Amino acid sequence: MVTETRSGAQSAGVPTVLVIHGPNLNLLGTREPEIYGHTTLADINLQLAALGNELGIQVQSFQSNSEGALVDRIQQARGKTDLIIINPAAYTHTSIAIRDALIAIDAPVIEVHLSNVHKREPFRHHSTIADVVDGRLMGFGAEGYFLALRAAAQILKHRAKPQK
Ligand code: DQA
Repeated sequence: MVTETRSGAQSAGVPTVLVIHGPNLNLLGTREPEIYGHTTLADINLQLAALGNELGIQVQSFQSNSEGALVDRIQQARGKTDLIIINPAAYTHTSIAIRDALIAIDAPVIEVHLSNVHKREPFRHHSTIADVVDGRLMGFGAEGYFLALRAAAQILKHRAKPQK
């Protein structure tokens, strides 16, 4: 299953941030809540859209359980999205295809994890994207997405500064 949400109408000059959620994150709220919390993905996406309105950013959210669909969505963002926030979930630890797609889009990327993966099983310690993203946030639960969107606003503000 694939879900896509978009806040408000796309308007010229408003920066766009694409938030990508990987496999099993559609189950947030009921999936291992002791690790991932009680907030649902729908709630996270709604709160991201509201924060985006405050920050003057159009937020699009996309979730898929399929690696190919995630790669396709990253490719579609080429030239259309100013920044990507991504939690590749289990694909964080295995996917070279997602890493290659993120390199190919040529936009800043922030990696988010609800849990602190370094406090967990050793197989979660490796991220295939850690060395190609601009920043990483983990261990703050759903708040990590909102912190990432605030960081995105700062990155985009600095990028928008006229060259001297
Ligand atoms: C996760 C951590 C991954 O190891 C795990 O497979 C997930 C979620 C996180 O947000 O903490 O599905 O990315």
